[in-house]
Order: sequence, then structure tokens, then C-alpha cells
Amino acid sequence: MAPATANPPMTTEQPDPEMAVQMILLAAAHHDRETLRTLLRHGSANVQDPETGATPLHCAIAACAPENLAAGEEESKTEPKKNEPEPQGEEETELEKAQKTIRLLLQNGAIWNDLDNNNETPGCLALRLGLKDMYEMIVDAGVRAELLLNRLDDYEELGDEDEEEEEEEEEEDVEHQDDETKGENDATESKTPEQETTQAAPAAESSEATVDLNSEAYLQSNLSFTSDRILDEDKNGVMMSWETDIMKRSAELLLPGPGLRVLNVGHGMGIIDELFQSHKPSEHHIIEAHPAVLEKLRKEGWYEKPGVTIHEGKWQDILPKMIEEGVMLDAIYFDTFAEDYKALREFFTEYVIGVLDPQGGVDGSGGRWSFFNGLGADRQVCYDVYTKVVEMDIFEAGFDTEWEDLAVPDLDQAGEWDGVRRRYWALKTYRLPICKFMG
Ligand SMILES: C[S@@+](CC[C@H](N)C(=O)[O-])C[C@H]1O[C@@H](n2cnc3c(N)ncnc32)[C@H](O)[C@@H]1O
Repeated sequence: MAPATANPPMTTEQPDPEMAVQMILLAAAHHDRETLRTLLRHGSANVQDPETGATPLHCAIAACAPENLAAGEEESKTEPKKNEPEPQGEEETELEKAQKTIRLLLQNGAIWNDLDNNNETPGCLALRLGLKDMYEMIVDAGVRAELLLNRLDDYEELGDEDEEEEEEEEEEDVEHQDDETKGENDATESKTPEQETTQAAPAAESSEATVDLNSEAYLQSNLSFTSDRILDEDKNGVMMSWETDIMKRSAELLLPGPGLRVLNVGHGMGIIDELFQSHKPSEHHIIEAHPAVLEKLRKEGWYEKPGVTIHEGKWQDILPKMIEEGVMLDAIYFDTFAEDYKALREFFTEYVIGVLDPQGGVDGSGGRWSFFNGLGADRQVCYDVYTKVVEMDIFEAGFDTEWEDLAVPDLDQAGEWDGVRRRYWALKTYRLPICKFMG
């Protein structure tokens, strides 16, 4: 991974671009912060080796692979030994040098989730090498970058709204500064394409077929239904039966007793709705937008079930009406398809508070809500980043999140992905969120 030759000598002249790239990668691999600082004055922390695709972050981490470390350094990589004095001054270990190099690169705008030719982000590499502290540094960098990107998105939207208003008020005024808040902060850079809230969540560019899903196109597309899956026209998994255990536990935690009022957003295969029914709710609302799924609901007799109300349409249109009508709920589950993280965030910041009863639940301590936590689930580092991002955003919306870990079986081995365009789940553990009113 790290270039093999020794560090070329520094001169006052600017090296040619290819040489400059190699020098940055080498300095990173050697954890040579002084040289790196000088090189980054004119160079970028996001260069990539033309042959391996490695970035300086990859190089700084790869240099800590056990075979590259001096004897005795390896076991200290995850946890410092107890009662061992902190190394002083020059006695910095290679691992500490590596961490400081990573910090320097991140401060200089290194992208946390660039892929090398091995289809690994720096975080994937740190995880594979067992470099826990470095992995956490990359996760934290990812969280910062994603939170900032999401905020910038909001500001841009606000800017756009303001512009529209201005345009309406004074049409002759044509000078707009719609990018005012964008800034040029490299630290906000991230290679995270659309984060899907549910299935199909490419949280980092991957070598697998990238999926360009959008809600409008999905809602007009043909679906194919079999006993164990729903696929869209492009063979993307809309819902798959391997998720049944996740749905089962989610239903148990959301409806711990009978007689509760529940809303499910996104019917899909109806797995969670069947499970909700087994908990004998007093009211069971289902919001579903796809005509083919609605037809299935009708054929299966859901419209006639006592206590069940089917709301046909998108949650974005239905929920404001439910709020207006004063509907109050003890539990809400959210699992849609082909919607991005912004949609999930809009759901819990704008709507949950309007329909979830603060005095609801079995003991009157407040309603609960949950969602299918599939953000970035095709890559551990992206899942860890988005689990933290979503928890922070949920907190900001006024809810605490409790997590329960569920083991996911080996889906490859079980042949679950045969005939499916993209594996949207590649992890061993599902982190199930249960959100409750704060305090
Ligand atoms: C992943 S499936 C839900 C699976 C479900 N949890 C189960 O247990 O079978 C997603 C469902 O959300 C629906 N959907 C997607 N976007 C929607 C929207 N904006 N409003 C309402 N339903 C939507 C899809 O048509 C699909 O039926």
C-alpha cells in the first residue's frame, strides 16, 4: 500500500505534480508530519496513488500493519498497557506518530471515505488491521463531515427558500447569492453519495453496481412480488424476508402490550404490520404510496381488518393531515424505500412530535418510535458513522435513542442476494433504535 522507496529530498522548487503526489503519500506513510506540513501548503491531502488508489490516510494507516511495525509495538495498538508511563517527547511510538499524522491529514481536509483500488476506505483498512483508535478517529471525522454536509444542505435550502420569496416580492432584483453559506471548507468534503434511509444504502462509493434510486421513479416503477422479497424493475431489493427477525423485535419493543395505537410508514411485504396485528393494537394506521403495494393490501383484506386504517399516498402528504386531525399514537415505525437521509430526518424533526403521544405507551410515560436502521449498511465504517449522525439528529429533535444489537446471519452464504442487484446489507450486527421523548 505505502510506496516503497525512501522519502525524496525536499527542495525549495515545486516538484512536478506526479512527484508531488508520491512525496505526500510517502510522507504520510512515514508519519513524517514536518514534511507533510510543508507539502500540504501547496499540495492536497486528497491525492491518490495512480496504481493503488491509496490516499495519504490509507498510507498512514497501512504503515501500521503488523508486518510494518517494529516488534513490541503491535499489541499496544488497541489499548495502552496498564500502569505504563506515557511516552515522553521524542519517545513517541510509531502508533502515536500515525495518529498525529491522521489528525494532520484530516485537519487539512482529507476525505474520510475515499476508496482505494481494493474497495477499502481508510476506515475499512483500520478496521481490517485491528487499529481501533485509528478506526475511531476516522469514524469521528466521518461524523463531523456528514453533520456539516447535512447542515450545509439545510442552509442551501433555506437560501433557496429566501430567494424564492425575494423573487416573488421583488422580481426585478436579479442578484442572488445562493451559495453564500457553502464556503470552501475542505473539512466538509465527503464522498458520500445519497444515503438511503432503508434498503439500498450506498454510503460510500463501492465497486458494486451503484444504484441511482429516486422516490418519484420508484413509486411509478413495476414491482415483482415473491414469497421472500419485493424487487423493483431494476432488481433492487425493496424488502426481503431475511429482515423478519429485525421486524419482530422492533414490533415487540414498540408494542409491549395490547390496546396501543400504532402507525407503520411503508407496508412492503407487510411483515411488521402482521406482527403489529399479533400485538392486538386498538388503532393500526398504515401509510403506503406504491399503487402495487396498495393493490396487494386490498387483495389481502387489510382494508377490512378491524381497527386498521390504510392511508394511501406519501407520508409527506398524509402526516400533515393526520396532525391536523389530531391523531395521537403510542408507537410509530418508519421503513420506506428510495428516500435519502434527509427524508428520514424530515420525518422525525417535523412530524413525529406532532402525532406521538407524550403521555402514550403502556405506562403513560410517552410513545416510542423506530425506523429501519439501514444507513450505510453495506460498509461497517459508514454504518458506524451514520448510526452516530442519526443519534445526534434524533437528540436535536427532542428524543433519546436506545440501541439493541441483533445478530444478522451470513446473507451471502444463505444465497439471499442471488438475483438482487445490490447487497444493501453486509454487516454482522443490526443496531435497532428505539426512540423516546427526552427525559
Ligand atoms: C422496505 S418496504 C417496508 C417493509 C416493511 N417494513 C415490512 O415489514 O414488510 C418500504 C415500503 O415503503 C413504501 N414507500 C416508499 N416511499 C414511500 C413514501 N414516501 N410514503 C409512503 N410509503 C412509501 C414502499 O412502497 C414500500 O412498500
